[in-house]
Order: sequence, then structure tokens, then C-alpha cells
Amino acid sequence: MDDDERIISGESTGLDEEKTELSLRPRTLKQYIGQEKIKKEVAIYIEAAKNREEPLDHVLLYGPPGLGKTTLAGVIATEMGVNFKTTSGPAIEKPGDLVALLNELQPGDILFIDEIHRLPKNVEEILYSAMEDFYIDIVVGQDATAHPVHFPLPPFTLVGATTRAGLLSAPLRARFGIVEHMNYYTEDELTAVVLRSAAVFDSKIDPQGAHEIARRSRGTPRVSNRLLKRVRDFAQVAHKESIDLEIVNYALKLLQVDERGLDETDRKMLMTMIKLYAGGPVGLATIAANIGEETDTVADMIEPYLMQIGFVKRTARGRMVTPAAYSHLGLDLHDEKN
Ligand code: ADE
Repeated sequence: MDDDERIISGESTGLDEEKTELSLRPRTLKQYIGQEKIKKEVAIYIEAAKNREEPLDHVLLYGPPGLGKTTLAGVIATEMGVNFKTTSGPAIEKPGDLVALLNELQPGDILFIDEIHRLPKNVEEILYSAMEDFYIDIVVGQDATAHPVHFPLPPFTLVGATTRAGLLSAPLRARFGIVEHMNYYTEDELTAVVLRSAAVFDSKIDPQGAHEIARRSRGTPRVSNRLLKRVRDFAQVAHKESIDLEIVNYALKLLQVDERGLDETDRKMLMTMIKLYAGGPVGLATIAANIGEETDTVADMIEPYLMQIGFVKRTARGRMVTPAAYSHLGLDLHDEKN
């Protein structure tokens, strides 16, 4: 299955969803639920930068997809009172693309680069001086007419997002003054996200229904919002006054999202490890090949949550399925031998 088809995928599916989610996105730190430690720190850095009338230092946000890195970057721009421009690593193909973006910035603006680990090397290299001293040197023209051009830039803030900080080169990482790790959300935080989103949709929801969606959202608000949208459809067609626990359970069963929020792809990964490799240890690339996914998809989107809930563990010789996962799947620890 393509990851985009997964209802519990953390990956954003594109423009339509982005548009509807805009209204769901909190705009201020006060509206932003969860990530308490980050919010507390960032609030101080923002206040200090504003008092000094300087741009905020560059910020690197890293962590699994769907936890609100883009949203937080937008919140920081609102709180700083500056413009927010967004792009992504793969969208910037050549140095000229980056120069065009930087050239449009007003002093203090925030440039957000999603998937910053996917910037081409020659683009990354011109970011170094842009971030450090607010200028870029590029070569314009070809062959005989080639000449270096020195571009001063307005002071700006780069906010970069990536799934794993380790994917970034050391020189790029070193240029971020503020580095924050986004964590999975607690059930209570996700319940608050579901209640807030239901209010944005003008949908009535019972606290038990909201909690059940939260519990099965893999610690990820993007998943909560996606499940809420689908459950809301079921509730509407069933003429429910309010989204209650019964309709949530019914809808999630049909969507094959299980008690712990795992879907077919998660179960396929665990079953493959158990049936073909006796529960491991087995390498990530081998698992990925066997379940028909990219290694990066397994590493960034499937495995982190399975590790977080203690269903998979990483060892020096590869990944292993834990007894807790066997028990969740209703398997005996020795089932792989059958
Ligand atoms: N919607 C998605 N993520 C959210 C968050 N962290 N806070 C509030 N609403 C959200």
C-alpha cells in the first residue's frame, strides 16, 4: 500500500488536505496544544529577540512526521509578527531558486524549509553564509562571462524541519542556534486536539469518542485530525447527534485501525518479521523490501511509533519484535516456528 493511502499515515497528502487543515492549525503559542517544553523555551527566545529588535535565531525542528513542525514554524512567525514563507528541500533544485526566495524576504521574516535534509549539496553550501552573515556569493554567467556576485540579504530566520537531526550535515546543523526535538503527544493532549478540531468543524463529539480517537492516533495530531474527519462522516451518515464511542469504534474497525492505532502496514511489518525472520534481528532494508516499502518510509514513518510503544526494538544486529507485540497480535512467542 502507498503510504499516502494509509489513514494513519503521518505524511501529508497534499494541497486539499493542507487547505482544510489551515483552519485547524493553531496560530498562536496559546492555541498550540502539547510540546510544552518547546513552547516554554521558544516563548522566551521570541520575547528576547523582540526586545532586542533582532530576528530570532535559526531554528531546527526535528521529529516524526505529523507532529506539527510546520504549524509550530507558522506560530513562531505569528508571535514574532513577521511574514512566513514556506518551501521544502526537494523544491529548491539549484542555487538560483534559493537566491530568489531569499531575495524576497523582508527583515526579520521567517523562511521555513521542510525536509531540509533533502536540499541539494550546492544549495546547502550557499545557505551557510546566508545563515551566518546574511550574504551569498554566487557565480553568474557561464564560461568567459562567469563572474562572482556578492548579494547582501536582509537579516532573516531560517526554520528547518527534518525527521531525524542525524540526516543533516554537521556544518548545516551547527548553524542552527535553536534545536528542538518534537515528541509524540500524550493521549490527553491529543484528546484536546480532537476536541478543538471538532469545534472548528462545528461537529458535536462526546468526551469518550474524542478520547478513543486520541488513543488510537499513534501520538500524532495529524492522524487524530484525519481519523476525526473519517469518523465524522460515519456519524453523519448514521444520523448521530454526536460522535460517540460507539461510532468511533465502528468506524475505526472498518478502517482497520486496531486497538493500539496500528494499521495493516504496521501489522504487515510485525508479521513479516515474525513469520520470515523468527521475530528478528533483521535489518531495516530487508524488512522494507519484504513489505514493499521504501527503507526511508519504514525508518521515518512506520518504525518510530512501533519502537515508541515497545513493539519493536533496535539492536546492534537489527530490529527485533518484542513479546508485547506478539501478545498484541494474539500470537504465542514461539508461533514463528509453526
Ligand atoms: N492541530 C494539529 N496539531 C495541533 C496542535 N499541536 N495544537 C492545536 N491544534 C492542533
